[in-house]
Amino acid sequence: MSSSTHPIAGKVAIVTGAAGGLGRAIALNYAAHGATVVACDVNESGLTQLATELNTHGDKHLCVPCNVADSHGVAALFDHVCHVFGTVHILVNNAALVPSRPEDDVRRNRHYTYITTPQPRQSLRFTSQMSDGEWLRWWDVNVHGVFYCTREALKRMEPQREGKIINVASIAGISSMSAHSPHYSATKGAVIAFTKAVAAEVAGANVFVNAMAPGGVQTPDFDALLARMGEEKCNQFWQVIPAGRLGTMQEYADTALFLAGPHYLVGQVISPNGGAVI
Ligand SMILES: NC(=O)c1ccc[n+]([C@@H]2O[C@H](COP(=O)([O-])OP(=O)(O)OC[C@H]3O[C@@H](n4cnc5c(N)ncnc54)[C@H](O)[C@@H]3O)[C@@H](O)[C@H]2O)c1
Repeated sequence: MSSSTHPIAGKVAIVTGAAGGLGRAIALNYAAHGATVVACDVNESGLTQLATELNTHGDKHLCVPCNVADSHGVAALFDHVCHVFGTVHILVNNAALVPSRPEDDVRRNRHYTYITTPQPRQSLRFTSQMSDGEWLRWWDVNVHGVFYCTREALKRMEPQREGKIINVASIAGISSMSAHSPHYSATKGAVIAFTKAVAAEVAGANVFVNAMAPGGVQTPDFDALLARMGEEKCNQFWQVIPAGRLGTMQEYADTALFLAGPHYLVGQVISPNGGAVI
Protein backbone atom coordinates (compact mmCIF):
# COMPACT_ATOMS: atom_id res chain seq x y z
CA MET A 1 0.00 0.00 0.00
CA SER A 2 1.54 3.35 -0.95
CA SER A 3 1.79 6.05 1.71
CA SER A 4 -0.84 8.25 0.04
CA THR A 5 -3.40 5.42 0.09
CA HIS A 6 -2.73 4.23 3.61
CA PRO A 7 -5.78 4.74 5.87
CA ILE A 8 -3.86 7.12 8.15
CA ALA A 9 -2.92 9.43 5.27
CA GLY A 10 -4.27 12.90 6.04
CA LYS A 11 -5.02 12.09 9.69
CA VAL A 12 -3.61 14.24 12.48
CA ALA A 13 -1.55 12.14 14.90
CA ILE A 14 -0.05 13.32 18.20
CA VAL A 15 2.88 11.20 19.40
CA THR A 16 4.18 11.96 22.90
CA GLY A 17 7.78 11.31 23.90
CA ALA A 18 8.73 11.42 20.22
CA ALA A 19 12.20 12.98 20.50
CA GLY A 20 13.95 9.62 20.63
CA GLY A 21 13.59 5.87 20.90
CA LEU A 22 10.32 4.23 20.02
CA GLY A 23 8.30 7.46 19.86
CA ARG A 24 10.57 8.85 17.17
CA ALA A 25 10.21 5.63 15.14
CA ILE A 26 6.41 5.75 15.46
CA ALA A 27 6.29 9.43 14.47
CA LEU A 28 8.47 8.86 11.40
CA ASN A 29 6.47 5.76 10.39
CA TYR A 30 3.20 7.68 10.62
CA ALA A 31 4.66 10.55 8.58
CA ALA A 32 5.98 8.08 5.99
CA HIS A 33 2.41 6.78 5.63
CA GLY A 34 0.97 10.22 5.03
CA ALA A 35 -0.24 11.32 8.48
CA THR A 36 0.28 14.84 9.76
CA VAL A 37 2.43 14.30 12.83
CA VAL A 38 2.58 16.38 15.99
CA ALA A 39 5.59 15.26 18.00
CA CYS A 40 5.95 16.37 21.60
CA ASP A 41 8.62 15.76 24.22
CA VAL A 42 10.53 17.46 27.03
CA ASN A 43 13.75 16.86 25.08
CA GLU A 44 13.90 19.98 22.89
CA SER A 45 17.17 19.18 21.14
CA GLY A 46 15.78 15.76 20.18
CA LEU A 47 12.67 17.46 18.78
CA THR A 48 14.82 19.78 16.66
CA GLN A 49 16.57 16.76 15.15
CA LEU A 50 13.23 15.00 14.59
CA ALA A 51 11.78 18.08 12.86
CA THR A 52 14.49 17.81 10.21
CA GLU A 53 13.70 14.11 9.70
CA LEU A 54 9.94 14.70 9.56
CA ASN A 55 10.48 17.37 6.92
CA THR A 56 11.64 14.66 4.53
CA HIS A 57 7.97 13.58 4.60
CA GLY A 58 6.61 17.09 3.88
CA ASP A 59 6.59 20.31 5.85
CA LYS A 60 3.16 19.97 7.52
CA HIS A 61 4.41 18.40 10.75
CA LEU A 62 4.85 20.07 14.15
CA CYS A 63 7.37 19.45 16.92
CA VAL A 64 6.20 21.00 20.20
CA PRO A 65 7.96 20.93 23.58
CA CYS A 66 5.50 19.60 26.16
CA ASN A 67 5.72 17.94 29.56
CA VAL A 68 2.89 15.38 29.66
CA ALA A 69 2.90 15.49 33.46
CA ASP A 70 1.71 19.13 33.31
CA SER A 71 -2.05 19.09 32.69
CA HIS A 72 -2.15 22.79 31.71
CA GLY A 73 0.71 22.29 29.27
CA VAL A 74 -1.07 19.29 27.73
CA ALA A 75 -4.32 21.27 27.35
CA ALA A 76 -2.36 24.09 25.68
CA LEU A 77 -0.73 21.57 23.30
CA PHE A 78 -4.10 20.19 22.17
CA ASP A 79 -5.54 23.72 21.80
CA HIS A 80 -2.58 24.64 19.63
CA VAL A 81 -2.85 21.51 17.49
CA CYS A 82 -6.57 22.04 16.94
CA HIS A 83 -5.96 25.70 16.12
CA VAL A 84 -3.41 24.73 13.46
CA PHE A 85 -4.90 21.48 12.07
CA GLY A 86 -8.55 21.62 13.15
CA THR A 87 -8.61 18.40 15.19
CA VAL A 88 -6.74 15.27 16.23
CA HIS A 89 -7.53 11.75 14.99
CA ILE A 90 -4.75 9.64 16.54
CA LEU A 91 -2.99 9.87 19.91
CA VAL A 92 -0.02 7.72 20.86
CA ASN A 93 0.70 7.93 24.57
CA ASN A 94 4.34 6.90 24.35
CA ALA A 95 6.13 9.35 26.69
CA ALA A 96 7.39 7.68 29.84
CA LEU A 97 10.18 7.47 32.32
CA VAL A 98 11.95 4.20 31.56
CA PRO A 99 14.43 2.38 33.79
CA SER A 100 17.61 3.22 31.88
CA ARG A 101 19.69 5.12 34.46
CA PRO A 102 22.85 3.62 36.01
CA GLU A 103 20.98 2.80 39.24
CA ASP A 104 18.35 0.99 37.15
CA ASP A 105 21.14 -1.01 35.48
CA VAL A 106 22.41 -2.17 38.85
CA ARG A 107 18.98 -3.49 39.85
CA ARG A 108 18.36 -4.98 36.41
CA ASN A 109 21.70 -6.81 36.41
CA ARG A 110 20.98 -8.29 39.83
CA HIS A 111 17.52 -9.35 38.69
CA TYR A 112 18.62 -10.91 35.39
CA THR A 113 21.48 -12.75 37.07
CA TYR A 114 19.03 -14.00 39.69
CA ILE A 115 16.56 -15.39 37.14
CA THR A 116 19.16 -16.88 34.78
CA THR A 117 21.62 -18.54 37.18
CA PRO A 118 21.10 -20.95 40.07
CA GLN A 119 21.75 -19.19 43.37
CA PRO A 120 20.26 -19.11 46.88
CA ARG A 121 16.72 -17.74 46.91
CA GLN A 122 16.29 -14.45 48.73
CA SER A 123 14.44 -11.16 48.37
CA LEU A 124 16.05 -8.81 45.89
CA ARG A 125 14.85 -5.91 48.11
CA PHE A 126 13.94 -3.47 45.36
CA THR A 127 10.59 -2.34 46.77
CA SER A 128 11.73 -2.02 50.38
CA GLN A 129 14.45 0.43 49.24
CA MET A 130 12.11 2.60 47.14
CA SER A 131 11.48 6.21 48.27
CA ASP A 132 8.12 7.99 48.07
CA GLY A 133 9.59 10.57 45.70
CA GLU A 134 10.93 7.98 43.28
CA TRP A 135 7.59 6.13 43.21
CA LEU A 136 5.51 9.25 42.65
CA ARG A 137 7.76 10.79 39.99
CA TRP A 138 7.18 7.79 37.72
CA TRP A 139 3.42 7.88 38.25
CA ASP A 140 3.34 11.59 37.36
CA VAL A 141 4.72 10.97 33.88
CA ASN A 142 3.70 7.39 33.05
CA VAL A 143 0.14 7.39 34.38
CA HIS A 144 -1.01 10.98 34.98
CA GLY A 145 0.53 12.02 31.66
CA VAL A 146 -1.47 9.33 29.84
CA PHE A 147 -4.65 10.52 31.54
CA TYR A 148 -4.07 14.23 30.73
CA CYS A 149 -3.39 13.51 27.04
CA THR A 150 -6.26 11.03 26.73
CA ARG A 151 -8.71 13.49 28.32
CA GLU A 152 -7.77 16.25 25.88
CA ALA A 153 -7.87 13.87 22.91
CA LEU A 154 -11.33 12.57 23.84
CA LYS A 155 -12.72 16.12 23.98
CA ARG A 156 -12.00 16.30 20.25
CA MET A 157 -12.53 12.67 19.24
CA GLU A 158 -15.89 12.02 20.92
CA PRO A 159 -17.84 14.81 19.14
CA GLN A 160 -16.34 13.95 15.75
CA ARG A 161 -17.01 10.23 16.35
CA GLU A 162 -13.55 9.27 15.18
CA GLY A 163 -10.36 8.48 17.00
CA LYS A 164 -7.65 5.97 17.77
CA ILE A 165 -5.68 6.04 21.01
CA ILE A 166 -2.65 3.82 21.41
CA ASN A 167 -1.19 3.57 24.89
CA VAL A 168 2.37 2.30 25.00
CA ALA A 169 2.50 0.04 28.03
CA SER A 170 5.10 -2.71 28.48
CA ILE A 171 5.44 -6.39 29.30
CA ALA A 172 6.42 -4.91 32.67
CA GLY A 173 2.70 -4.31 33.14
CA ILE A 174 1.66 -7.91 32.45
CA SER A 175 4.51 -9.98 33.88
CA SER A 176 7.35 -10.04 36.38
CA MET A 177 9.94 -9.39 33.66
CA SER A 178 10.70 -5.96 35.17
CA ALA A 179 10.69 -7.00 38.82
CA HIS A 180 13.86 -4.90 39.05
CA SER A 181 11.69 -1.79 38.61
CA PRO A 182 8.48 -2.24 40.62
CA HIS A 183 7.54 1.44 40.25
CA TYR A 184 7.81 1.22 36.45
CA SER A 185 5.89 -2.09 36.35
CA ALA A 186 3.09 -0.62 38.45
CA THR A 187 2.71 2.37 36.14
CA LYS A 188 2.52 0.16 33.05
CA GLY A 189 -0.06 -2.09 34.71
CA ALA A 190 -2.08 1.03 35.48
CA VAL A 191 -1.87 2.12 31.83
CA ILE A 192 -3.28 -1.26 30.78
CA ALA A 193 -6.15 -1.08 33.31
CA PHE A 194 -6.92 2.48 32.18
CA THR A 195 -6.84 1.37 28.54
CA LYS A 196 -9.46 -1.31 29.16
CA ALA A 197 -11.77 0.93 31.18
CA VAL A 198 -11.67 3.93 28.87
CA ALA A 199 -11.88 1.70 25.77
CA ALA A 200 -15.23 0.33 26.94
CA GLU A 201 -16.35 3.85 27.83
CA VAL A 202 -15.69 5.51 24.48
CA ALA A 203 -15.96 2.78 21.80
CA GLY A 204 -19.60 3.74 21.25
CA ALA A 205 -18.35 7.07 19.96
CA ASN A 206 -16.14 5.23 17.44
CA VAL A 207 -13.03 6.03 19.45
CA PHE A 208 -10.98 2.85 19.77
CA VAL A 209 -8.43 2.66 22.58
CA ASN A 210 -5.85 -0.10 22.75
CA ALA A 211 -2.48 -0.73 24.33
CA MET A 212 0.77 -1.98 22.96
CA ALA A 213 2.93 -3.81 25.50
CA PRO A 214 6.42 -4.07 24.02
CA GLY A 215 9.05 -6.46 25.21
CA GLY A 216 12.62 -5.29 24.78
CA VAL A 217 12.94 -2.61 22.11
CA GLN A 218 16.23 -2.28 20.32
CA THR A 219 16.70 1.42 21.06
CA PRO A 220 20.13 3.09 21.32
CA ASP A 221 19.64 3.13 25.11
CA PHE A 222 18.90 -0.62 25.23
CA ASP A 223 21.89 -1.33 22.95
CA ALA A 224 24.10 0.64 25.35
CA LEU A 225 22.63 -1.27 28.28
CA LEU A 226 23.38 -4.63 26.62
CA ALA A 227 26.92 -3.48 25.91
CA ARG A 228 27.35 -2.56 29.59
CA MET A 229 25.93 -5.97 30.63
CA GLY A 230 28.67 -7.83 28.76
CA GLU A 231 28.52 -10.97 26.63
CA GLU A 232 27.89 -13.51 29.39
CA LYS A 233 24.90 -11.68 30.89
CA CYS A 234 23.56 -10.92 27.41
CA ASN A 235 23.60 -14.62 26.59
CA GLN A 236 21.73 -15.32 29.82
CA PHE A 237 19.25 -12.63 28.90
CA TRP A 238 18.55 -14.08 25.45
CA GLN A 239 17.60 -17.36 27.11
CA VAL A 240 14.49 -15.74 28.60
CA ILE A 241 13.44 -14.41 25.17
CA PRO A 242 12.54 -17.35 22.89
CA ALA A 243 13.15 -15.26 19.76
CA GLY A 244 16.69 -14.65 21.05
CA ARG A 245 16.72 -10.96 20.24
CA LEU A 246 15.04 -7.64 20.97
CA GLY A 247 12.31 -6.31 18.70
CA THR A 248 13.40 -3.66 16.24
CA MET A 249 11.95 -0.18 16.47
CA GLN A 250 10.41 -0.69 13.01
CA GLU A 251 8.58 -3.82 14.22
CA TYR A 252 7.06 -1.87 17.09
CA ALA A 253 6.36 1.17 14.94
CA ASP A 254 4.48 -1.08 12.52
CA THR A 255 2.32 -2.40 15.38
CA ALA A 256 1.50 1.20 16.29
CA LEU A 257 0.70 1.87 12.63
CA PHE A 258 -1.70 -1.08 12.55
CA LEU A 259 -3.45 0.10 15.73
CA ALA A 260 -3.90 3.57 14.19
CA GLY A 261 -5.63 2.16 11.11
CA PRO A 262 -8.97 0.42 10.55
CA HIS A 263 -9.58 -2.59 12.85
CA TYR A 264 -12.08 -4.06 15.31
CA LEU A 265 -9.83 -4.02 18.41
CA VAL A 266 -11.20 -2.37 21.53
CA GLY A 267 -9.35 -2.38 24.86
CA GLN A 268 -6.84 -4.99 23.72
CA VAL A 269 -3.23 -5.34 24.76
CA ILE A 270 -1.04 -6.25 21.79
CA SER A 271 2.32 -7.46 23.02
CA PRO A 272 5.13 -7.86 20.52
CA ASN A 273 7.72 -9.46 22.79
CA GLY A 274 9.57 -12.28 21.01
CA GLY A 275 7.89 -14.80 23.29
CA ALA A 276 9.30 -13.31 26.50
CA VAL A 277 5.74 -13.38 27.83
CA ILE A 278 3.39 -15.93 26.28
N1 LIG B 1 12.78 0.35 25.30
C1 LIG B 1 12.14 -0.75 25.70
O1 LIG B 1 12.70 -1.85 25.74
C2 LIG B 1 10.68 -0.66 26.09
C3 LIG B 1 10.04 -1.84 26.48
C4 LIG B 1 8.69 -1.79 26.83
C5 LIG B 1 8.02 -0.59 26.77
N2 LIG B 1 8.66 0.54 26.40
C6 LIG B 1 7.88 1.78 26.37
O2 LIG B 1 8.08 2.41 25.12
C7 LIG B 1 7.95 3.82 25.30
C8 LIG B 1 9.18 4.50 24.72
O3 LIG B 1 10.32 4.04 25.42
P1 LIG B 1 11.81 4.19 24.84
O4 LIG B 1 12.50 2.94 25.12
O5 LIG B 1 11.75 4.71 23.46
O6 LIG B 1 12.40 5.25 25.86
P2 LIG B 1 13.01 6.70 25.61
O7 LIG B 1 13.51 7.17 26.93
O8 LIG B 1 13.97 6.66 24.46
O9 LIG B 1 11.73 7.52 25.17
C9 LIG B 1 10.87 8.12 26.07
C10 LIG B 1 10.65 9.54 25.63
O10 LIG B 1 9.73 10.16 26.53
C11 LIG B 1 10.20 11.45 26.80
N3 LIG B 1 9.66 11.93 28.05
C12 LIG B 1 10.02 11.56 29.29
N4 LIG B 1 9.32 12.26 30.20
C13 LIG B 1 8.49 13.07 29.50
C14 LIG B 1 7.51 14.02 29.88
N5 LIG B 1 7.26 14.29 31.16
N6 LIG B 1 6.82 14.67 28.91
C15 LIG B 1 7.09 14.42 27.59
N7 LIG B 1 8.02 13.54 27.18
C16 LIG B 1 8.70 12.87 28.14
C17 LIG B 1 11.72 11.32 26.83
O11 LIG B 1 12.37 12.57 26.67
C18 LIG B 1 11.96 10.36 25.70
O12 LIG B 1 12.16 11.04 24.47
C19 LIG B 1 7.77 4.06 26.80
O13 LIG B 1 6.39 4.20 27.08
C20 LIG B 1 8.31 2.78 27.41
O14 LIG B 1 7.76 2.53 28.68
C21 LIG B 1 9.99 0.54 26.05
